[in-house]
Amino acid sequence: MPIEPDLPGGVPERGTGAASSGRRVLTFERVDSTNEVAWREAERGVPEWTWVSADEQTGGRGRLSRRWHSPAGLGVWTSVVLRPGVTPSVAPGITMCASLAVARTLRKLHPMSVSLKWPNDVMVKGRKICGILTEMKASGERVEFVVCGIGINLNQAAEDFPAELRDAATSVFLETGHKADKAEALAELMPQMERVYAVFLSNGLQALMGEWRSMCPLFGKIVRMKTRGETVEGVFHDIDASGALVLRLESGVHRSFLAGDVEPVS
Ligand code: BTN
Repeated sequence: MPIEPDLPGGVPERGTGAASSGRRVLTFERVDSTNEVAWREAERGVPEWTWVSADEQTGGRGRLSRRWHSPAGLGVWTSVVLRPGVTPSVAPGITMCASLAVARTLRKLHPMSVSLKWPNDVMVKGRKICGILTEMKASGERVEFVVCGIGINLNQAAEDFPAELRDAATSVFLETGHKADKAEALAELMPQMERVYAVFLSNGLQALMGEWRSMCPLFGKIVRMKTRGETVEGVFHDIDASGALVLRLESGVHRSFLAGDVEPVS
């Protein structure tokens, strides 16, 4: 029997579902942001593998304080609460786990050539189809919880994107000409995330890097990294155990970045 969720900040749709793995799914018609709702739930002590999923977000958030356009019925807008027993420096690797899980999901369900862009984008032919926003609460060297938010564009037509995103964003519908089923996408994504995360916890990010690397065309290329304060060029050398991008600068020095936007230098 579904239990009506007692949750602030959203309009309940179907209630709470539980899977034998311990997975719980809280579904909403509309929320401000699934990351916000998941964060509040995590603060209330919900177990890990609590997913929050909404049909629409009115205040969807992206990285670097950007907005994430999340119209009703056109995408997967979901966040999962995780409680990894890792130190804060390792937790950003969870973003890379999520991008891998999304790439596997899209490749399995739809005939598209999916690639990965550090740190958190899933791309199709140079356009963004999915973004990931991972946030964590830590006390000292202990991660209390992580909220990993995943937005996948499923059924937008070009005019459904704001004009300024039209050249940069895409959807399953735009790439395949077919409408995607949100429930099917979520049903594939959740176990994929569980599998990738299990490898991450037991063997570390490096155990996933072979697959990640095979989908990231920028390895070994000259790239431009834009951070909040500076722009740096170098060779995309590696991604380290904490998920940081390592650039080899012209001087030969290796420099790591935890956040930023990376583009190929043409
Ligand atoms: C980015 O590429 O900048 C990250 C976008 C993350 C969007 C997802 S949609 C579900 C979750 N809730 C949010 O408010 N943001 C994330």
